[in-house]
Amino acid sequence: MRKKIVAGNWKMNTLPAEGVELAKGVAAGRGGVCECVDFIVCPPFTHLSTVAEALKGSGIALGAQNCAAEEKGAYTGEVSAAMIAALGCKYVILGHSERRQYYGETSETLNKKMAQAYANGLTPIYCVGENLDEREAGKHFDVVKAQIEEVVYNLTAEQFKNLVIAYEPVWAIGTGKTATAEQAQEIHAYIRKVLSAKFGAAADECAILYGGSCKPSNAAEIFAKADVDGGLIGGAALKAEDFLAIGKGFEK
Ligand code: PGA
Repeated sequence: MRKKIVAGNWKMNTLPAEGVELAKGVAAGRGGVCECVDFIVCPPFTHLSTVAEALKGSGIALGAQNCAAEEKGAYTGEVSAAMIAALGCKYVILGHSERRQYYGETSETLNKKMAQAYANGLTPIYCVGENLDEREAGKHFDVVKAQIEEVVYNLTAEQFKNLVIAYEPVWAIGTGKTATAEQAQEIHAYIRKVLSAKFGAAADECAILYGGSCKPSNAAEIFAKADVDGGLIGGAALKAEDFLAIGKGFEK
């Protein structure tokens, strides 16, 4: 049985006190959603420790949105995987399209970040996805295949067991445009095939999340698809009620 996961990517939103309020709201309502769903929240670095405190005893996991490619040292402004792990993070989002697009993250950098994540006991949520031009040119399969081959194929079998993939079509992120449930299923099944070519049956255990304008009104339809194991949620993760309602999408 694959895990069912709903992860909130808060991006650069909320001030520290607002983040704590949001986390408390999610923790307070968590009991109303099936225990079969694993919830993860990924606040900005600045609120990790206070949000960790707010989540105590809730069973909700903490994640960071990024980590440094290096272990430690003279890297001004960077935050290491060891630092976020020490604050209680279990997960780290890596390779989000906003990081690839605005901060020039390449597969080379991401290989180093993945290594740092594993060295510190974190589970990466590795993001893949094509942009609009690539989708329109029919290149989406090739794009995600390359993003997986260049990074995920470098993992050991043991590391692969501790990996979550998020498929996020760039054209659906924050745009209100969602991939149809059929489009999501088609590419999720393809991603699983690419993973199984390298890791065999272990690919059946890997959770593959959908991300891109996922909300309470469309979650159930998308999550009902065989190869969709949950969601990576941006905008709708900023309201506790909506975030939890997305988790209920598994119950329908
Ligand atoms: P969105 O973002 O839900 O606001 O589209 C998803 C993401 O980028 O992780």
